Amino acid sequence: MAENDLMRQMAAFEESALAALENARDEAALAQWRTANLGKSAFIMQIFSQLGTVPKTERPQIGQTANQVRVRLEEALELRMNQLKKKALAESLKNEKIDVTLPGRHPYRGRLHPATQNMREILAVLSQIGFEIFRSPEVETDEYNFELLNIPAYHPARDMWDTFYTTDPGVLLRTHTSPGQIHAMKLFAPESIRVALPGMCFRYEQVSMRSEIQFNQIELLAVGKNITFGDLKGTLQEFAYRMFGNNVRTRFRPSYFPFTEPSAEMDVECFLCAGKGCSMCKNSGWLEILGCGMVHPTVLKNGGYDPNVYSGYAAGMGPERITILRHYVEDIRYFWGNDIRFLEQF
Ligand code: DAH
Repeated sequence: MAENDLMRQMAAFEESALAALENARDEAALAQWRTANLGKSAFIMQIFSQLGTVPKTERPQIGQTANQVRVRLEEALELRMNQLKKKALAESLKNEKIDVTLPGRHPYRGRLHPATQNMREILAVLSQIGFEIFRSPEVETDEYNFELLNIPAYHPARDMWDTFYTTDPGVLLRTHTSPGQIHAMKLFAPESIRVALPGMCFRYEQVSMRSEIQFNQIELLAVGKNITFGDLKGTLQEFAYRMFGNNVRTRFRPSYFPFTEPSAEMDVECFLCAGKGCSMCKNSGWLEILGCGMVHPTVLKNGGYDPNVYSGYAAGMGPERITILRHYVEDIRYFWGNDIRFLEQF
């Protein structure tokens, strides 16, 4: 009687467990089902632990039956698990369909800033024609930025180079790379030197399409014995050929800078209109690319060279201005505006 009772209970347990299994629709439900029906306190598992209380003659059959129920439930669980896995896979295949014919997404690649690219290109050309790169500070003194370059405090030329002053008296952000000339000369005198001085300069100025409060410059300086204006012209012309193409036409116009005498500005033929005249060259056919001249005797002296024995030439250019001309950039403010739409074009 007891035996039959237990057998019936086991059958009923199995039936309801299997029915519950059909209703389990995800992993969490399956785990819950397993605890309830195959866990330590599940009815069928309790039978094993209480087998000792069952009369000896009934034990084998009850034990065997309980075992079979357990095995069937385990098999059913595994089957259900596989079913659900297959269903989930089929669903994800359907929902997350990958169109392998779509073009791939390019990884985003960084690059050098156009000003850096251009700076490196110019410095590479300059080093090919014999200039050594020489770095000098961006924070300067009034003495180096002006006085030693023959621009005394009262000189009207100071207006052209207004700058940002620090709270330390006489300490300012350099307005040009020219003070580097003095640093280089003081370091090397009386040796001959041929250096290129690149770096950031600052000006207290109204910003516009053509002028910024910060920009790079590259200064050239050659000092030695018997250096003439012919060396200046020949070297700068060679630079222009290598930079803008062989046989590009150049011209020198007289100019004024306090630290050179005589002074000049070099133009290259407009590359947009080939000298015919257009909006970029303001109908002149020429683009101004640098200022230059023979180093003023006072500046040579300030650098530690005897102007009766030594002479030299110097030049200064704005690489961003050159980039603007070469790539027809209409506004110099794009360089430090950090707009990716501009930067990624280079
Ligand atoms: N320092 C000048 C400027 O910022 C540029 C310049 C002109 C540099 C003539 C030179 C030079 O070395 O000889 O406008």
